[in-house]
Amino acid sequence: MAQIFSKYSNTLARLSIIALAVLVISGIGLAYALQNSQYVTKQGIFVEQPVPFSHKHHGGDLKLDCRFCHSAVEDSAEAGMPTTEVCMGCHTQIWKNADVLKPIRDSYVQNKPISWWRVHDLPDFVYFNHSIHVAKGMGCVSCHGRVEDMPLTTQIKPLTMEWCLECHNHPEAYVRPNEWVTSSEEWSGEERARLAPKLIKDYHIQKRTDCYVCHR
Ligand code: HEC
Ligand code: HEC
Ligand code: HEC
Ligand code: HEC
Ligand code: HEC
Repeated sequence: MAQIFSKYSNTLARLSIIALAVLVISGIGLAYALQNSQYVTKQGIFVEQPVPFSHKHHGGDLKLDCRFCHSAVEDSAEAGMPTTEVCMGCHTQIWKNADVLKPIRDSYVQNKPISWWRVHDLPDFVYFNHSIHVAKGMGCVSCHGRVEDMPLTTQIKPLTMEWCLECHNHPEAYVRPNEWVTSSEEWSGEERARLAPKLIKDYHIQKRTDCYVCHR
């Protein structure tokens, strides 16, 4: 019987199947890369604030504890922002006539709070609560990075569901003693290995991965 398809078209068919497969795979790869790209997750973006506040100066150089300004972090869902009075506690004396601090002085005189723009912002359908994380020995540094090294504040973790679940599945890799929650110091592998199981027990930490924990 005569050959209907030449050898050539056979090769062509095979090639086009491979080409299609490559296209599909790279398409999936691209979609995945896009979904997880820093552009989509908003990592590393700087937000223009009313005053260019520096954590590096205030947290790093002056060694102010995070809770000095974010005082609600242990007791409520939101960490909270410092009132103008907290800033004026120092800035009635230090840099009291500086132009960059004019919005702070205006806010103080007019008794109107400063509106800081959000740097981290989860979608509304996600429930998050600071107090339980802090109470269970999750350090600021695990979720915000070394904030006291930042001249301007930026989000460095992706805040995706995958990211939340990584820790909810392995809290033992992150837990630290309560008195260190605002410290960015890394603690040694040996000490961590020794202490983590005890802390997991002491703080009654459970693996919370049910959907309703974060979507209620
Ligand atoms: C002197 C007061 C002060 C101290 C101390 C301080 N912060 Fe802040 N923090 C602010 C102000 C003001 C802002 C808003 C401006 C900005 O985003 O930088 C802010 C913003 C933030 C944000 C971004 C909030 C958002 O909108 O998502 C994080 C995260 C944060 N601080 C964490 C920390 C951590 C962690 C520490 C301790 C290492 C700390 N802060 C210490 C005053 C302070
Ligand atoms: C388990 C991760 C995690 C830990 C630990 C954590 N944060 Fe946050 N933080 C977040 C997330 C997520 C948001 C964004 C919340 C939102 O958009 O509703 C946020 C937002 C903030 C904000 C903006 C205001 C607010 O409450 O939404 C500040 C300020 C802040 N965190 C400071 C801190 C400080 C200080 C600590 C340590 C004492 C800390 N955070 C510990 C994850 C964390
Ligand atoms: C404990 C005292 C203290 C508090 C509280 C404080 N500051 Fe400052 N701030 C300083 C000092 C000291 C400097 C000078 C830093 C330098 O030049 O090294 C400074 C500098 C600044 C500057 C100039 C730019 C820079 O960082 O060098 C800005 C802007 C500023 N502070 C904003 C704020 C705001 C906003 C608050 C309230 C959320 C605040 N400060 C609370 C002590 C304080
Ligand atoms: C660094 C570790 C870590 C990360 C990252 C983390 N969590 Fe958690 N989360 C915990 C631990 C530990 C608990 C306490 C579990 C327990 O024992 O109940 C917890 C508890 C919670 C709870 C339960 C609160 C309650 O009142 O019942 C919610 C909601 C939650 N996390 C949301 C989130 C969301 C949303 C994210 C991501 C944006 C996130 N978490 C990221 C460690 C983490
Ligand atoms: C530890 C907290 C946490 C748990 C548990 C969790 N989610 Fe999520 N989920 C998130 C966060 C945070 C986002 C937002 C992610 C973003 O904006 O990139 C999200 C987003 C989503 C979305 C929107 C689409 C998307 O991927 O962005 C869906 C659908 C969803 N979750 C379903 C679920 C289901 C189903 C479960 C249970 C199997 C679950 N989630 C458990 C934190 C959680």
